[in-house]
Amino acid sequence: MSKSIIWVGIFVAAFAGLLLLQHFTSDEYSGGGEAGYGGMGGGASENTTQAGGGEELSGAQLFANFGCVNCHGAEMQGTKMGPSLAGVAKYYNREKLIAYLRNPEANMSGDRFDQYKKDFPGGLMPSYGNRDPKDLGKIADFILSSK
Ligand code: HEC
Repeated sequence: MSKSIIWVGIFVAAFAGLLLLQHFTSDEYSGGGEAGYGGMGGGASENTTQAGGGEELSGAQLFANFGCVNCHGAEMQGTKMGPSLAGVAKYYNREKLIAYLRNPEANMSGDRFDQYKKDFPGGLMPSYGNRDPKDLGKIADFILSSK
């Protein structure tokens, strides 16, 4: 919830900045007027880089951000916690992969999952059904593009 407040702040600040800029450039008016808008969003806009608000992240960044790397490794090479995703593209199209991420247990198909159960007895692939499908789509594209 505080995130949305920050975003609103950023928008207001950007808008005020544009108005101010237009005002100065069209009137060749320099000086006095800056007091009104100047300070409004200064603090908020500082947060732009830190907020990390989902939307602009690439599939690779989301793969790291969502914690996939913890189990599947930074290069998808696999870890003790999860299998390599190296050859996985051949089993999925985009939709299937998104469906799998949203609900792994209902979408496990193939003998390799029996092997996974033996290899990762304590670990289960978490479900990401509560995440933004757009983000899952980006992650799917990322996985499918790195064969
Ligand atoms: C807690 C560890 C863990 C995390 C975090 C995790 N996975 Fe998994 N993942 C697994 C395990 C273990 C399996 C093997 C299937 C099983 O046992 O449920 C798996 C299976 C998969 C598969 C299926 C592989 C196949 O052969 O079809 C894909 C695709 C996958 N994970 C992608 C992801 C993505 C993308 C993320 C992040 C959004 C992620 N995983 C996060 C542990 C994890």
